[in-house]
Amino acid sequence: MLFYIHVFRLDRSIFTCNYQFTSCKADRDKTTMLKIYAVSVLCLLVEAGYAKPLNLRPIIGVLAQESSKGVDESYIIASYVKWAEAAGARVVPIRINEPDVYYEELFQRINGVILPGGDIDIITSYHAKAAKKLYQMAMKAYDQGDYFPIWGTCQGLQLLSALTAGKNLLADRPSFTPAPLDFTPDFLESRMFHKLPENIYSALANENVTSNLHMYGLTPQNFSENSQLSSFYRVMSTSLDMHDNVYISAMEAYKYPFYGVQFHPEKNVYNWDLRFTNNHDADAIRVAHYFSEFFLSEARKSYHFFPTIEEEIDALIDNYKPQFSKDSSFEDVYHFKFTK
Ligand SMILES: *[C@@H]1O[C@H](CO)[C@@H](O)[C@H](O)[C@H]1NC(C)=O
Ligand SMILES: *[C@@H]1O[C@H](CO)[C@@H](O)[C@H](O)[C@H]1NC(C)=O
Repeated sequence: MLFYIHVFRLDRSIFTCNYQFTSCKADRDKTTMLKIYAVSVLCLLVEAGYAKPLNLRPIIGVLAQESSKGVDESYIIASYVKWAEAAGARVVPIRINEPDVYYEELFQRINGVILPGGDIDIITSYHAKAAKKLYQMAMKAYDQGDYFPIWGTCQGLQLLSALTAGKNLLADRPSFTPAPLDFTPDFLESRMFHKLPENIYSALANENVTSNLHMYGLTPQNFSENSQLSSFYRVMSTSLDMHDNVYISAMEAYKYPFYGVQFHPEKNVYNWDLRFTNNHDADAIRVAHYFSEFFLSEARKSYHFFPTIEEEIDALIDNYKPQFSKDSSFEDVYHFKFTK
């Protein structure tokens, strides 16, 4: 049986698990020696394959997308960044329209990817092409024993479905208001929900705590008629659009740590535009954090890291300044001029 260890200060050295042994000298004080022995025992467990440490410095990549102004003007909505940060992540932006080597290198340095909402083409856009590279690397990594989670929100769920099916299977499913989740009978078998607390379950199932802002959706029929999709993902919930037509609102891959929700958990906490109906009550806030905390619990199982602390710091989104726009429903947005 494999279990995950909570090490209160997990730094790079635990990944190699060898410095403790070499630094074990008799002239250390008792506390230091005890710490060294304790970590050594953990390391032996890790090396014997009985335990895995958790990465307590997870870094999440949020994939940029092209704006209507063109590929050189890509953007990231800040609410996704804040949502991940609130659950214990630091964030790096992932550029679009970069050579393969950029994605291959960055992939080895980050611990998960967020595919955010937006309005690009889920097959032909630069965003979709970059997502495809990350998705394929994450699958290959998993097959080689390396854990790398991907989270898709709204367009991100739609994009995941297109990446798996190899085509766009979306139907018109407009929804601009919060809607309850209709859970499937076996939803508790999913990783996303198997520890779902009763109060979060009750809010999701009975209240309007999911912010929706989408024109399209994945229908259960299109999903089940496509064997690539239905063998790849477990559907945990559906919801009704503004015409009472059903769409898939939460799914996860059976095998890979890939997760998609059609609603926007982050909007409950960070988006205040009164033209849209975002629920800000206490249950809605708890729901938003439930999903980011779940995703971060997955990211802590990834041990990718930057070669140096300097490169790590230089890559962080903190090096960029979001712009607040009174007229945009996104509110705070990072704009990137990724010209070459
Ligand atoms: C998906 O569903 C919609 C509406 O139910 C339908 O119009 C569309 O053709 C379906 N797409 C595929 C590829 O089956
Ligand atoms: C949720 O929203 C729908 C549609 O706006 C409404 O009919 C329903 O009463 C709401 N449910 C709750 C619990 O507020």
